[in-house]
Amino acid sequence: MSDSKVKLVFATNNQHKLEEVKSILGDSFQLMSMQDIGFNDDVEETESTFEGNAYLKAKAIFDQFKLPCFSDDSGLEVEILNNAPGVYSARYAGEHGNHDKNMDKLLTELLLKENRNARFRTVICYIDGKGLTSYFNGIITGQITNERHGEKGFGYDPIFKPDGFNITFAEMDAAEKNIISHRAIAVKELFNYLQQQ
Ligand code: IMP
Repeated sequence: MSDSKVKLVFATNNQHKLEEVKSILGDSFQLMSMQDIGFNDDVEETESTFEGNAYLKAKAIFDQFKLPCFSDDSGLEVEILNNAPGVYSARYAGEHGNHDKNMDKLLTELLLKENRNARFRTVICYIDGKGLTSYFNGIITGQITNERHGEKGFGYDPIFKPDGFNITFAEMDAAEKNIISHRAIAVKELFNYLQQQ
């Protein structure tokens, strides 16, 4: 890699995600959001896999700007529900982003179920400056609790207890979660790959 900063577009306008990823990628990269490059299209997540949805967004940006870019798609996979809600995690109960309803629905589905195994998964799709596509995975396994614990984080955090911890994601400080999270693992995989280029 040359001394000058490598330009890299992250297909997000979520400031929180941007900061999280910046802290992992470090100073060698000039990380830009969709807003930074003036990409305002709404790319719908119409695919049935994380890979498919991540690709859609990265490809839309690459086609327009021909810059190295990446996109992430994440969700919760519950073993006894055949990996549901998966790509539908954000709209599991029908309303996009209604985390309370999503958690209620999941807790109801799992009522009296002994198998509470679950995992968060992130897939990153990276398209380099020449249009070559690569995928990176991040997984954290854990258990769905019987009820909500904690106020921090977002989404399913109050009902997900990562393996090796006695607290849920929503009881952890952001800094602690960001070290072990599925997203962090996937971004580190991407970082390792970029370092080798
Ligand atoms: P996204 O692809 O990162 O936007 O995630 C899609 C959905 O998966 C979110 O709306 C949440 O419902 C769920 N999700 C993804 N990551 C997390 C997490 O770290 N904690 C809790 N829920 C998450």
